[in-house]
Amino acid sequence: MACFFRRSVAAQLSRICGAPEDVLVPLLSAVPVSKKQSTPDLRLAVNSLVKNGVLSPDADLQTQTERLTKQLRVDAVVEEVISGRGVINFRINKRLLVEVRRTSCALRFTRSGFSNLSAHCLKRSLAHSSPNIAKKFHAGHLRSTIIGNFIANLKEVLGNEVIRVNYLGDWGMQFGLLGAGFQRLGSQEKLRENALQHLFEVMLTCALQVYVQVNREAEHDESVRLAAAEFFRRLEQHDEQTLSLWKQFRDITVEEYKKIYERLGVRFDHYSGESFHQSRAQEVLKELRTRRLLKTTEKGKGVVDLSAASDLSSYATLVRSDGTSLYITRDVAAALDRKERFHFDEMIYVTDKSQSVHFQQLFQILRVMGHHWAERCVHVPFGLVLGMSSRLGEVVLLEDVLNEARYRMQHNMQEAKTSKELTDPELTAEQIGVSALIIQDFKGKLISDYKFDWQKVLQAQGDTGVFLQYTHARLRSLLRMHGSGNHTHFNPSHLQDSRSISILQHLLRYDEVLLQSALDLQPRHLVNFLITLSHLAASAHRELPVKGSPAELAQARLRLFSATCSVLANGMKILGITPVDKM
Ligand code: ARG
Repeated sequence: MACFFRRSVAAQLSRICGAPEDVLVPLLSAVPVSKKQSTPDLRLAVNSLVKNGVLSPDADLQTQTERLTKQLRVDAVVEEVISGRGVINFRINKRLLVEVRRTSCALRFTRSGFSNLSAHCLKRSLAHSSPNIAKKFHAGHLRSTIIGNFIANLKEVLGNEVIRVNYLGDWGMQFGLLGAGFQRLGSQEKLRENALQHLFEVMLTCALQVYVQVNREAEHDESVRLAAAEFFRRLEQHDEQTLSLWKQFRDITVEEYKKIYERLGVRFDHYSGESFHQSRAQEVLKELRTRRLLKTTEKGKGVVDLSAASDLSSYATLVRSDGTSLYITRDVAAALDRKERFHFDEMIYVTDKSQSVHFQQLFQILRVMGHHWAERCVHVPFGLVLGMSSRLGEVVLLEDVLNEARYRMQHNMQEAKTSKELTDPELTAEQIGVSALIIQDFKGKLISDYKFDWQKVLQAQGDTGVFLQYTHARLRSLLRMHGSGNHTHFNPSHLQDSRSISILQHLLRYDEVLLQSALDLQPRHLVNFLITLSHLAASAHRELPVKGSPAELAQARLRLFSATCSVLANGMKILGITPVDKM
């Protein structure tokens, strides 16, 4: 819908000032709904025309604003053109605005429909989640998983092709520690003999303990440190026995993660990992050496100079004195490999902000190596989640978080006695639990840390995922009962009340909000939009009865509720939430 109105105004503007429609469309913003009925529907900041080179920067802004306003005409779409301070406001013809059928075009995300707004149709490689084998799956990995999933969903909706990559932490010195520890404390027979589930228990529960124990021991016991270094050295040299133990660890972990990702509704196109880029890392080092980009320090480390003055005042270490590769070396190799394999236009990495320097260095190294596409590599950093725990204490595995959310949600639903007619209350509780986690996580700026609080997360009232689900389920139930409104005999004049108009005006903002989120890769624009939509829908649901209203009025309201429900569901899906029909 928004496309239609925005396009029409842009076309008129384009005829007047000569700029292409595509440049003008994104400059027209839908004005947020306010209590005052008189808000305009679309607004143009004349300054943005200057910034885009459409108008001259030399002339007085207000004079230009007024001149342009005078040239604009009222037409079938625009009811009124009003100039303000540096802005031009457009009021959209109310009759058209309430023609809810038009909203349906906002609901069909065809490539062409949105590529106008998304500017390009690009191929993106998106690396997210990326947990470490045999280490804690901490809240950061949960954030990386859901944020990456959101970015990928959004880019796809806007017409891009996305390749979702899970870059596992499956290589590095910690495998020396894990391998050596397992050889000492782990049970090889059990690991070999038992079923996958048992193997996983041995591997992640027991091996986690082993890992922690080994870590503690390593502080005192020099022999463990040496054994660990030896194990990793053998791994790097692809010693068969060492490699097969490592492979067992990896395979089991991936299998288990896949199940958890399924519970979260997340899938990957590609599981890679640091181990994949092993030999390539050695090639990278060779290339750097031949091109004299790798310098050896006194202590025997290999470094790449990243300083402007070539004085090693800033550098990245790519090779240890014993010749083994580092995290960043493998990332350079992985980036080169992905470029060749996927031919991406843009690569997005999603990790916590503690890795910001790592990615700056990574992109710098790629530039030093002459890869201009490093300019199109993006790091999306996010903040810490503080205090995430479960009934059993500190959260160690992602599974613990999901189980806790499901358990608590099911408990709440039983208390509220809502879950009686559900076919699978456990699944519904899980889906609502996950949406609560997602909304809590996406509400603020991603870079901010936040304190985790189960009570707040799972509240049914207030700006939570539970509230979104509740609103959606109520609308679905209304539509189940009465149908989604008669398409052919629909009279928009029945939607002239302030509540209906507020919803319609708000729906007008949907594509703009998606675009905004796509530009800065922050989900909060969409989250806030959906929360406001839910509040508007909740009050409309209360105040605009369908049951008992004259048929024509009831039909018109059903059309409005059906459009609201579709946009709500659609937006939730982009966020990675499965909308529930009953709860
Ligand atoms: N495995 C890493 C960690 O847990 C995250 C990987 C991020 N991606 C990357 N290409 N370095 O910290």
